[in-house]
Amino acid sequence: MLTFDILTLFPGMFVGPTTESILKRAQQAGLIEARLHNIRDWATDRHRTADDAPYGGGAGMVMKAEPLAACIRAVAGAGAPPVILLSPDGEPFTQAIAHELSREERIVLVCGHYEGLDERVREALVTRELSIGDYVLTGGELAAMVVLDAVARLVPGVIDAESTAEESHSDGLLEYPHYTRPAVWEERPVPPVLVSGHHGEVAKWRRRERLRRTLARRPDLLARAHADGHLTREDLVYLADLGWGPG
Ligand code: ADE
Repeated sequence: MLTFDILTLFPGMFVGPTTESILKRAQQAGLIEARLHNIRDWATDRHRTADDAPYGGGAGMVMKAEPLAACIRAVAGAGAPPVILLSPDGEPFTQAIAHELSREERIVLVCGHYEGLDERVREALVTRELSIGDYVLTGGELAAMVVLDAVARLVPGVIDAESTAEESHSDGLLEYPHYTRPAVWEERPVPPVLVSGHHGEVAKWRRRERLRRTLARRPDLLARAHADGHLTREDLVYLADLGWGPG
């Protein structure tokens, strides 16, 4: 069981991603739990203020230290789970990080909003920062949903183990193409090897398609896959035929 504690000013944004489809089923099956915490509930003044103007001036608002810190401390408790801030300044989120996080018992996701949060909370309480890409969202909520979704599907039992074995990015390569019936659609036949019944040939074809596609679309990933030991000698021979060699 993996518990996600999500700290946000807008818990309503999580309705949908946590209440539909696979994540809904995973929660019903007791494989994951997504708990939402409204940071505003930890504000102590009459207006429940969670943000304020920045020292030094400038545009936008900054999330105040006290409510956010109180919320993180109350939620994290004694277990010292990773406290992850979603931020465009963070470490790029990858499938490898998703795998790593899927082995935790509990993850605290902190959604920043407005211009950001008081830097002192970051220093004192945040253990890791993740970015889902080099673009800026209105807040960390959508990024937290992305991390939640990518991590939850790797928790054993949430989806078939086979689906995650050969998918894109699983060993640094993109996925092979998929086909289903009919065998010919608008004059386009399915690759004959797939209907040959030859399991060995199918596996070989799929591996080659993954290599070919990765070279064509994401050559940057091939060097990394090679450095990480994901390419076999046979892979390298095939890639050499396609004109690729390790740098
Ligand atoms: N908050 C705003 N933009 C973000 C991004 N790209 N990744 C993670 N959190 C964010």
